[in-house]
Amino acid sequence: MKLFCLSFLTLVIISNLPAQSPDLPNDFLGKEWHKERRQKLRESMPANSVAVFFANAVRNRSNDVDYVYHQDPDFLYLTGYREPEAVLLIFKDNQTAANGTSYNEIIFVQERNAMREMWTGRRIGADGTKKLLGFEQAFNGSQFKKYNLDFSKFSEVLFYDFHNDVRDNPRDSADLYSLIEQFKEKANYPKKDNSLIVSKEQPKNNLNTRGLYALMANLRGVKTKEEIELIRKAVMISCVGQVEVMKAIEPGMSEREIQGIHEFVFKKYQAEDLGYPSIVGGGHNGCILHYTDNYKPSLDNKELILMDLGAEFHGYTADITRTIPVNGKFSPEQKLIYELVLSAQEASMKACKPGVELSQLTVVSRDVVNKGLVELGIIKTETEKHLFFPHGVSHHIGLDVHDKGNRVLEPNMAITIEPGVYIPDNSATDPKWWGIAVRIEDDYLVNKDGCELLSGYAPRTVADIESMMKQPSPLQKFKLPDINPKK
Ligand code: GLY
Ligand code: MN
Ligand code: MN
Repeated sequence: MKLFCLSFLTLVIISNLPAQSPDLPNDFLGKEWHKERRQKLRESMPANSVAVFFANAVRNRSNDVDYVYHQDPDFLYLTGYREPEAVLLIFKDNQTAANGTSYNEIIFVQERNAMREMWTGRRIGADGTKKLLGFEQAFNGSQFKKYNLDFSKFSEVLFYDFHNDVRDNPRDSADLYSLIEQFKEKANYPKKDNSLIVSKEQPKNNLNTRGLYALMANLRGVKTKEEIELIRKAVMISCVGQVEVMKAIEPGMSEREIQGIHEFVFKKYQAEDLGYPSIVGGGHNGCILHYTDNYKPSLDNKELILMDLGAEFHGYTADITRTIPVNGKFSPEQKLIYELVLSAQEASMKACKPGVELSQLTVVSRDVVNKGLVELGIIKTETEKHLFFPHGVSHHIGLDVHDKGNRVLEPNMAITIEPGVYIPDNSATDPKWWGIAVRIEDDYLVNKDGCELLSGYAPRTVADIESMMKQPSPLQKFKLPDINPKK
């Protein structure tokens, strides 16, 4: 009885939450924006087709603890729905329901459940999906099984193939696992193949697992003004993180502590997530391109620290790298490498304009770096094969850090330019270069004549970095008690 009363009360409290709840930010992209994105996708879909999207899976961390949930970016882009266990169908043409209603999109979402909501958080349910997200046809996930749609009538059923990595919750017949199984059954997905990806050819039916990526890349690659606003915010937050670290860093601090300063700034500005695991590498750790251990306990007086971090704000992420001397002053060798990387970035930035391929920006940076490495005596010829600059310099950013988007630049694309030089210990060079790792990564918005640097608030030149590092930091006064037991 007590349990019933509590559940009932919880449900009442939750369902009474106003649309503009003080418990949530009120500047998310609006339902009209998502609806217009669905319409744009519909217009680009082939004749007589349906596109099917699934929410991201909940991922288990260990035992009964899951990773913090993150929605699939396509699903978020098209719906604004932030919960798991959901499926969305977008139709090229109007469909007619049994009761005669005409519709061109339908969504199945996780059901309201007072007990579950008390433990793991609020759900908006089918009604909330109608009211808050503007769907006319929204149902509980349990209805999907009974949803009587003849997939064989479509010329194409577009969806991303499955990787068979979704956990089954045997107690929930409308969890993502069940929704996928039910879709496979309805759409006549081949039973024997674990995945269509393994077969080289598309099967001779109407299932198309290859076409959706290009349609979504076309849409997501060119940002709307509302998205650009959110990207600017994510970038600015991430720049402030870099600036505060430049002011606060001292030899003897740990990589973790530096990571913590960046991420504290992100949270202070209400960034809900990181766009990717933070990379904070002192000295030779910077040579590990996606270093995420960040566990060096004491940064050395003479080393550089490479910091590649991006705040995610309302789904949109920045991707910014700064490399700075831990003690506030670049050594002559560090400065030479740093300025070489900066000149490569400047050259690629000049080349960045509509009509240019992303890969061309890498060619431009690579030429500058190779010339410079020869001048410094680190390689012998410009055509020598080496691993001192082993990656490309540019990708789209947006809802993913490596966002979907076309290869040829257009206005309102958001991209990075990020050359680097990494000289691991024991390289076949003069040891004076060993352990130097520099990446400079900035975010840009392509405009009609070139591109705008979005992340210039975080100093980039040697002089500007050294000058910023002389500024006082409020963290110098932030002292915590010594918790090491007395010996
Ligand atoms: N932070 C990942 C990248 O720079 O692409
Ligand atoms: Mn990047
Ligand atoms: Mn990066």
